[in-house]
Amino acid sequence: METTFDMFIETEVPEDELIVSRTDFTGKITYVNETFAEISGYTPEELIGKPHNVIRHPDMPKSAFEEMWATLKRGEVWEGYVKNLRKDKGYYWVFARMSTVIKDGKPVEYKSVREPVSREKKIEMQNLYDKMRAEEEGQTRVVLYIDNEKLKEAEGLEQ
Ligand SMILES: Cc1cc2nc3c(=O)[nH]c(=O)nc-3n(C[C@H](O)[C@H](O)[C@H](O)COP(=O)(O)O)c2cc1C
Repeated sequence: METTFDMFIETEVPEDELIVSRTDFTGKITYVNETFAEISGYTPEELIGKPHNVIRHPDMPKSAFEEMWATLKRGEVWEGYVKNLRKDKGYYWVFARMSTVIKDGKPVEYKSVREPVSREKKIEMQNLYDKMRAEEEGQTRVVLYIDNEKLKEAEGLEQ
């Protein structure tokens, strides 16, 4: 059996900036802030008008989004961990808070505001989502996390 190996680069989400986007009721992007564009590797112009699944990462289980949509449609707030796909195929983890935008007492749009995720939580969520996907698709994928400090140590030993 042939083994293939891909390495994708993680982009760290800054602590002090909010990543904001808004969509219409079908999930089409209507607004992104500069930080959203920067972190996803797109320009705002490339994102606006596109379905929000342009940044959907293949590691995200279907059921996570099904639950998210059901929650939003009930008018409730959804909070959860999301692994997103950058334009360059790299990835970034966020803790997202999605809700309905109300204007003059009427729901007009959805919005999402995101924060950074700790390394421990990323590993926990990767494992959980891998399990959920395996159950959904009957597939298993192994993901290795390499600690930067350990990597430096190992490189030091080789020299
Ligand atoms: C306000 C809002 C923000 C969203 N943000 C993301 C996001 O950051 N990443 C993502 O993969 N999906 C996001 N979604 C969900 C997508 O619309 C979509 O349901 C998801 O990517 C799964 O794709 P699929 O519905 O084609 O299976 C968001 C939806 C809404 C309403």
